[in-house]
Amino acid sequence: MPYTQNDRPQILEGLQTEQQIEIRKFQKEDIRSVVGINRICLPENYPDQFFLGLHYHAPDAFIVAESKGEDELCGYIMCRIERGLSSFGKLPTKKGHIVSVAVKPECRNQGIGSALIEAAMEGMVEYGASEFFLEVRETNKDAISVYENLGFEIKRTLKGYYRDGEDALLMVKKHQPEE
Ligand SMILES: CC(C)(COP(=O)(O)OP(=O)(O)OC[C@H]1O[C@@H](n2cnc3c(N)ncnc32)[C@H](O)[C@@H]1OP(=O)(O)O)[C@@H](O)C(=O)NCCC(=O)NCCS
Repeated sequence: MPYTQNDRPQILEGLQTEQQIEIRKFQKEDIRSVVGINRICLPENYPDQFFLGLHYHAPDAFIVAESKGEDELCGYIMCRIERGLSSFGKLPTKKGHIVSVAVKPECRNQGIGSALIEAAMEGMVEYGASEFFLEVRETNKDAISVYENLGFEIKRTLKGYYRDGEDALLMVKKHQPEE
């Protein structure tokens, strides 16, 4: 289901758990839940100000998934708009950077991560991004598969990108206006 900035939040139905999941923009009151999900799911953790700074920078590309009924967040995605050379040519362009995305383990494999990424890409397009990119651990097969299913391709390996020395894959996707 497409998500547009003028829409009401998107509701994902028919999930395996039969819960309703609302895909909506982050609000400052969500900060504790988002920081908690980040700590559970990823080794890359940040102070609150980092999350709030990204929200200030690109509020329409900071999206959360909320489990209705339980009034609990089950995932988030936050992004940054950057200028740089296109991954698909040599010209400078505006690029949407997926900085962090995570879904709680008990909420995975229901389409929530994909819905978050799609909603965030729509938000980034509103800010003028014509392509998207992200870094992912080369051993993170689940995430790589989700990104590939959404049309991302591996551009190159970033040697020793992570603090523990693991390599990252740089994955890129061009915005297709008709999508
Ligand atoms: C990566 C991550 C965000 C994906 O979240 P998710 O909610 O599980 O993602 P989705 O449900 O959209 O997709 C996962 C799989 O479930 C499948 N799926 C989607 N809806 C489904 C459904 N209703 N029933 C069964 N399977 C479903 C998808 O096809 C996908 O399968 P794939 O293995 O073929 O790609 C999640 O695994 C995560 O938080 N990982 C830890 C943090 C992390 O690594 N973040 C990325 C850092 S770069």
